[in-house]
Amino acid sequence: MTVTDIRKGLVGVIADETAVSKVNPETNSLLYRGYPVQELAATQPFEAVAYLLWNGELPTPEQLAALRATERAHRALTDEVRAAIDLVPLDAHPMDEVRTAVSVIGAQDLAGSGSVMDASGSAEENLARSIRLFAVLPAIVAYGQRRRRGEGLIAPRDDLDYAANFLWMTFGEVPDEVVVDAFNRSMILYAEHSFNASTFTSRVIASTLSDLYSAVTGAIGALKGPLHGGANEAVLHVFHEIGDAENVSSWLDDALARKRKIMGFGHRVYKRGDSRVPTMKAALDTLVAHYDRPDVAALYDALEAEFVSRKGIYPNLDYPSGPAYDLLGFDTVTFTPLFVASRVTGWTAHIMEQQAANALIRPLSAYSGPDERHVEGYVPDT
Ligand code: ACO
Repeated sequence: MTVTDIRKGLVGVIADETAVSKVNPETNSLLYRGYPVQELAATQPFEAVAYLLWNGELPTPEQLAALRATERAHRALTDEVRAAIDLVPLDAHPMDEVRTAVSVIGAQDLAGSGSVMDASGSAEENLARSIRLFAVLPAIVAYGQRRRRGEGLIAPRDDLDYAANFLWMTFGEVPDEVVVDAFNRSMILYAEHSFNASTFTSRVIASTLSDLYSAVTGAIGALKGPLHGGANEAVLHVFHEIGDAENVSSWLDDALARKRKIMGFGHRVYKRGDSRVPTMKAALDTLVAHYDRPDVAALYDALEAEFVSRKGIYPNLDYPSGPAYDLLGFDTVTFTPLFVASRVTGWTAHIMEQQAANALIRPLSAYSGPDERHVEGYVPDT
């Protein structure tokens, strides 16, 4: 292998097939199992999209009701998982808390499985595990935000659907329908995006025949970084730094002079705009109107216009999501855990797809270290 064969960052490499989603950068479109994501966001509850990602088809009313019943039955945090979360220092990043909670849930579920040979599980077991993780993650994320604020755990409510219950467990109230709808849309938009870094991580782990929980735990680690999921949080820091729309130009002069990456802009696959942004921007506009915050829209528009005209680099999903989650009342550090609660559906769909037609993922490397040399004094055995 020569150095010219290396695709740093695996840019342009097709690593495998997937039937879960299709990203088309030419048309700026994203399909989940064939359906345009903006159509799903406009018409479906997140539970139905989770069902679609796992099963390949949208649910019938009966299938949706069955999924919702299972989801409701597994929403509550157990005392043990809560105690594990409480071990994470309050000033650690909540992604560490989420990663720890999923790891403990996995260890409890797999206890007694006896050997690593039993851990990867059947398709049926892994679908059940996926639904249980999907069901409990809102409680993990909500409790994390509450305990950092010195507030107590709020129990789930059986009369509420996924999105409304998530907001209830976080804030202790159910906001207006338009707010719940904007949140539901964000969950759908974040759910799946082909072989992004965290999903690919989950597939690498699944390819070793490790268990689903280990694959999800690894994916959470990959999502934490600011070049991936951590960017929604970073967008808010940028907004706070700039402060006001009229400061955009001077702030950008300074940031670009220092060669800073502007968080929430750019994408490895989309080079002419992220297919999810218009839908999330519309949800953000709804929240701006609902909470009467034209200043947020002004800053958003000013930074987008100035950066796109200077660099030709377009916003990604994290750009509208960051300020939307802020308006919803989430703490900035909670944004990436929200991404986990959504993306767990895509990760688990990919883990099950990998398991169904597995090949160990093990690329090659080109060696760039010293030529062969020998330890002084070493005498080979004769
Ligand atoms: N700000 C400033 N310059 C940028 C940005 C940005 N956000 N994004 C790309 N560029 C520039 C790079 O500096 C580079 O310029 P150069 O050729 O002069 O060195 C060029 O555009 C190509 O950028 P790369 O980083 O090489 O492109 P890549 O495909 O690897 O990057 C990435 C994609 C990592 C997302 C990048 O655009 C970035 O760092 N963006 C900011 C972080 C972010 O928003 N991440 C969220 C991703 S989407 C998601 O997770 C939902």
